Amino acid sequence: MTTEASRYQEDIRTPTEVADPQAYPRRIVKSYPGAPRHPLPWPPEQPGHRLGRVLAGVGGITRSQWLTPLDMLPFTGSFETIPDNDPLQWLVTRRPTPSGGARYSAEWYVIAGPDSEVPAGVHYYDPARHELVQLRSGDHRSWAASGPATTVLVQTNVFWRLAAKYGEMYYRLTCLESGIQVAQALVVAAEENPRARLCFPDADLTELLGLDPREEGVHAVVELLPPVPAAYGGPSLAGFPRAAGVHAAVLAQSRPGPEPLAAAPAAGGTRIDLPYVAPDLAAGTRTRHAAMRGFSGDAMSIDTLAAVLTGYGQGARWDLAPDLIEFHCVVADVTGVPDGAYRYHPGEHRLELVAEGDPRHRLREAAITSLTQQGARTANLWLLPVGDAAAAEERYGERWYRVQHAAAGAALHRACLAAASVGVASRIHNDVLTHVLDEWFGLGGRRRGLLMAQLGTEHPAGLRPEFRLTY
Ligand SMILES: Cc1cc2nc3c(=O)[nH]c(=O)nc-3n(C[C@H](O)[C@H](O)[C@H](O)COP(=O)(O)O)c2cc1C
Repeated sequence: MTTEASRYQEDIRTPTEVADPQAYPRRIVKSYPGAPRHPLPWPPEQPGHRLGRVLAGVGGITRSQWLTPLDMLPFTGSFETIPDNDPLQWLVTRRPTPSGGARYSAEWYVIAGPDSEVPAGVHYYDPARHELVQLRSGDHRSWAASGPATTVLVQTNVFWRLAAKYGEMYYRLTCLESGIQVAQALVVAAEENPRARLCFPDADLTELLGLDPREEGVHAVVELLPPVPAAYGGPSLAGFPRAAGVHAAVLAQSRPGPEPLAAAPAAGGTRIDLPYVAPDLAAGTRTRHAAMRGFSGDAMSIDTLAAVLTGYGQGARWDLAPDLIEFHCVVADVTGVPDGAYRYHPGEHRLELVAEGDPRHRLREAAITSLTQQGARTANLWLLPVGDAAAAEERYGERWYRVQHAAAGAALHRACLAAASVGVASRIHNDVLTHVLDEWFGLGGRRRGLLMAQLGTEHPAGLRPEFRLTY
């Protein structure tokens, strides 16, 4: 254990005290007074401005909800934090992506070139006004792009927004949330041929965006290269596979994918075949929300389970090792699958039994708040991505913690999108004692559960009035 991050992981598992929460402003959108602005067309889904649609789809203010203090009680445990001045008219704005405590630490910047639909330059995406704020003019893509890219999106996290609530644990959450942001970007920008990078020259990009590195961290880069106009397609070459194979091998060598880690071999537990179901993650982005009242406890079908797990384990077009995390889960009341703890193997699309038996009691022991405990009784599926700190540290050095947690956040978000696309509710939870589950999963060495999501049929009292602001 050599890195700062390794010590941090061992020490920080739950929020730490925040001496003066009032010292942190509630502002969750940045402002740049006096800087030139470039409005984007609203509503964003209208045809004609692809970049505007992508930006609203990752970071826009796309939903609003009306909540009462009673809605917040399962999260806060008391009415103390509820404002007294007008407690029944509580309108909250929401984004397309989940965020710990709805603190929305994530920001997006645009590095535009001459073909970017907006003036070349470095811009901040202002979600409140759906505008770009120009920070620099000129073409600066060479600092951020690893290959041909028309536009480069840069994802950052404003640390104090999470620190105000979670203390030292803010860093863990920003890493998880950057993975969520990247997973969302790869879905909503699918037509722009996106590729993400989580390993890049951080210091250069921080400087280019003009950020104070103590306040805001650059966590990911998404390069966009939309297709050129379609040309006449020639006749099929399917009859000449050997020649095609040689050509494909040269192409693959010219851009090698990330090497797998030296991961521990899988155990030989009983395997369960799953049906093949292709979830529509893009459809999921339109209805995903965090379940407000837990789940009904109805049984889940094996097809639904398979759809969610397909999203969970789906590969991403990014620069991280494909096996940076393992895909663990707990199953309860899924037709055709015995209750218990499992590891999902995406390549085989099969579940491997890790620990048999009714898991609900175990899950309840690990759950901290009443809402999480309710999910222990009523959710059908708990997803728990697991990472091996030793293998990740060997490959990524100081960066290991950040990329491993990003991979975990991305996997859970893909699963939540897949779930939403088949009408299943979800909620990501960090208020879980993951080390209690680690013991049950029999995780040895430095393998640890990183975050958890609960999924099931939404509790009938859970749906809250919610207005979609864009579609
Ligand atoms: C990293 C992360 C951790 C979270 N932890 C919790 C949690 O511990 N308890 C909880 O009730 N919700 C948790 N959430 C869910 C957020 O509260 C929820 O996403 C946020 O209120 C926004 O609502 P939405 O997901 O419907 O957009 C978490 C979300 C994220 C991304």
